[in-house]
Amino acid sequence: MNNIAITNATIVTPLGHSARKGAAMAELSVIREGAIIITDGLIAYCGSMQQMPEIPAGHARLDAEGRVALPGFVDSHTHLIFGGYRPDEFGWRLKGESYMSIMERGGGIQSTVNATRTASAEELAEKARWFLDRMSEMGVTTVEAKSGYGLSTESEMKMLDVIESLAADPEAKLRIVSTFLGAHAVPKEYKGRTGEYVDLIISEMLPAAKGRARFCDIFTEKNVFEIEDSRRLLRAARDMGFDLKLHADEIVTLGGAELAAELGAVSADHLLHVSDEGVRRMAEAGVVATLLPLTAFALKEPFAPARKFIEAGAAVALATDLNPGSCFSGSIPLTIALACIYMQMSVEETITALTLNGAAALGLAAETGSLEVGKAGDVAILEFDNYHSLPYYVGMNCVRTTISCGRVVS
Ligand code: NIG
Ligand code: FE
Repeated sequence: MNNIAITNATIVTPLGHSARKGAAMAELSVIREGAIIITDGLIAYCGSMQQMPEIPAGHARLDAEGRVALPGFVDSHTHLIFGGYRPDEFGWRLKGESYMSIMERGGGIQSTVNATRTASAEELAEKARWFLDRMSEMGVTTVEAKSGYGLSTESEMKMLDVIESLAADPEAKLRIVSTFLGAHAVPKEYKGRTGEYVDLIISEMLPAAKGRARFCDIFTEKNVFEIEDSRRLLRAARDMGFDLKLHADEIVTLGGAELAAELGAVSADHLLHVSDEGVRRMAEAGVVATLLPLTAFALKEPFAPARKFIEAGAAVALATDLNPGSCFSGSIPLTIALACIYMQMSVEETITALTLNGAAALGLAAETGSLEVGKAGDVAILEFDNYHSLPYYVGMNCVRTTISCGRVVS
């Protein structure tokens, strides 16, 4: 049943059908003693209890007892599908080895590629379902999932099959958006032949992924896909109708942010080492800056300059980057704590970044990401009546109930 009436809630939400930029990120609507009526999965009423129309028949009731109701969180950057794990690599990093040096000697992404290629689609799906359940418990109602551990046409399509099957499951607790990331690394069989691998992606993989993945993403990085290869691949993808995303300026300053602006990407992600010029151009071009503090934390790298983006008038989104290598965490609570404690983002900005701006980073700001009539009934109800509890309860989950399209899922 996708009909529910939530009463006596403290409704806290950004408003709008597109990303909120700059200073507007801090503006939230707060309605005390509020009600949300969700009918057939969509919000039919969101406002004060006093003005609430009569609750129609056939609606479940949920008394929030004053607790905060937020839009369901949007985790707009994850590598949800993967074979194997890499705990040894994490140990090597703790001893001082760098992420890129492990990758350059055939570990890192390639090691997950080996495990993903040999795993069956069902094994991959089973594993992903476990993570999806954990996300749902943390209030996530929309998640992006990337391919990128196949790196051959067959294995990349297997990953897209898995994402499609998870998304189409009638019991699915979350909305799942698919991103093609065939350019995640140069696979071992193409070592030293990056250009030829880009040719293969353009001639074979992109046509096969077309209509199946909404976005095309790339790891634009020194010694991976540098600017010229990235531009060539992303232009081809754009011409085929993909919306664009980039892993940009994650390890070194390379100009990924500037390229994202030049190509009109929907988002550029990571940005730990973005240049000031890159910040300015992204703001100008309206590219969402998707910042991933858990990755910076796990790699012991400096955090991305959230304030610079906000002060430049850009839209900032926050996401987890859940993956088995650089960031084996999908923790929304810790993302919130790091953003507020180390990135100088206010709680209000953090909420906008994890809801409406995350939705905008997935091209879904008209459908979800805020509590407004006509949008999906995606709601996270907290244990507490004060949204400042989000970073205050450091790293701990304070979501009590998750509602996805009007259905209580966690
Ligand atoms: O977003 N940097 C590239 N991709 C991932 C890491 C993938 C992996 O290590 O398996 C990231 O950090
Ligand atoms: Fe990533």
